[in-house]
Amino acid sequence: MPAAQRLIIAITGATGAVYGVRLLQVLRDTPGIETHLLVSDAGVLNLHQELDMNRKDVEALAHVTHSIRNIGASIASGSYQSAGMVVAPCSMRTLAAVAHGLSDNLIARAADVTLKERRRLVLMVRETPFNLAHLRNMTAVTEMGGIIYPPLPGFYHRPQSIADMVDHTVGRVLDLFSIPHALTPRWNGIKSTD
Ligand SMILES: Cc1cc2nc3c(=O)[nH]c(=O)nc-3n(C[C@H](O)[C@H](O)[C@H](O)COP(=O)(O)O)c2cc1C
Repeated sequence: MPAAQRLIIAITGATGAVYGVRLLQVLRDTPGIETHLLVSDAGVLNLHQELDMNRKDVEALAHVTHSIRNIGASIASGSYQSAGMVVAPCSMRTLAAVAHGLSDNLIARAADVTLKERRRLVLMVRETPFNLAHLRNMTAVTEMGGIIYPPLPGFYHRPQSIADMVDHTVGRVLDLFSIPHALTPRWNGIKSTD
């Protein structure tokens, strides 16, 4: 599998498990993409709380799965190539681990590898309001080349449902990896108000 086609997806314990699930659903149906999935223990809690899904349900959506405790997995090494990684959603705990290069589980390690290899790292951080530690950690990840992508819904495309909002957000993440999709209409400018 060419490196450009592999994508690492991590689901952590912030609210918004639906973003990771939707990403996996779309990528499963995208030809030539191989997803590598990681789910933290708190991520499993939220999958159950928010979507009535268990670990097996979500793992069934991925091509390859890894335990976050398997620090010897393929994706723990920079020599195993990938197009990059999305943490969807990303908790403040995982954000802090990435910002400080802790590599204390396979999610933080894979993110660390993604940054050191200068590949694309997208963190769909979710918390509100932010404290100074959160803000500083987001700055640190940005300084290292990562992309902080909080899943904040837009309203200009007139979403009719939560699913529309989720698809819009997920579609913009796919744009960051130049992965084609038809999840959301493209903006063509404001129509005349005259
Ligand atoms: C229902 C629920 C919702 C949570 N929502 C958030 C959240 O939006 N953002 C966040 O940073 N942590 C949130 N947490 C706390 C994290 O799950 C917790 O900090 C956990 O240690 C994160 O671990 P992880 O990064 O390994 O997934 C939530 C926890 C629960 C149980």
